[in-house]
Amino acid sequence: MSHVPTIQTARLTLRPFTADDAPAVYEYARHREVAATTATIPHPYSLEDAVEWLGRVTEHGAKGDVHNFAIVLRASRRLIGAIDLRLEPENRAADLGYAIHPAHWNKGYVTEAARAVVEHGFETLNLNRIHAHHFASNPASGRIMEKVGMKCEGTMRQRICKWGVMHDTIHWAILRSEYEERKSRT
Ligand SMILES: CC(C)(COP(=O)(O)OP(=O)(O)OC[C@H]1O[C@@H](n2cnc3c(N)ncnc32)[C@H](O)[C@@H]1OP(=O)(O)O)[C@@H](O)C(=O)NCCC(=O)NCCS
Repeated sequence: MSHVPTIQTARLTLRPFTADDAPAVYEYARHREVAATTATIPHPYSLEDAVEWLGRVTEHGAKGDVHNFAIVLRASRRLIGAIDLRLEPENRAADLGYAIHPAHWNKGYVTEAARAVVEHGFETLNLNRIHAHHFASNPASGRIMEKVGMKCEGTMRQRICKWGVMHDTIHWAILRSEYEERKSRT
């Protein structure tokens, strides 16, 4: 039994993954430009990698320690990516992460998904803080964090080595008090 709910937004369904999603996960995760700005997606990426990842996602969903959502276009029912909240219950905090297929970049989809997942984190999971970080070389991801109301907390210099290159990471967070203040304004 998964702890992950299904959430509808204007253009998207965010839902738990199933074992049948492996080909669609492979289809978005296999692109070099998707792996390049994430710490965790390997490259080259195989269908077996997707199957193995979905196994871990199912375990996390059953434990409830990571809420992994498939990002599905409502109109076509096509799965285009993933967004997750990695929980730290002792701190009432969570880390937000996401990736989608390059064919769907810059249409506002991840901002739309991230707004809904942040709302889920504060309204349903009763979190106090949601944080996220991105490579300095990936400003589009920082823009999403800004658009969902996160504040920039600083840079960790040469924090991650990806493919032999050291990357600075930029760290953002939104607190419950800031989320509630934003909600009262809209
Ligand atoms: C980063 C990523 C998630 C963005 O998803 P997306 O659905 O295209 O994002 P959105 O369309 O909601 O928002 C992107 C924003 O970044 C802006 N942007 C795009 N390229 C940019 C650039 N080079 N510099 C600055 N801003 C940029 C867009 O204009 C948009 O902002 P706006 O609404 O103010 O115009 C997507 O590119 C991706 O999956 N990348 C690979 C995986 C990854 O990097 N994941 C994040 C790890 S931290």
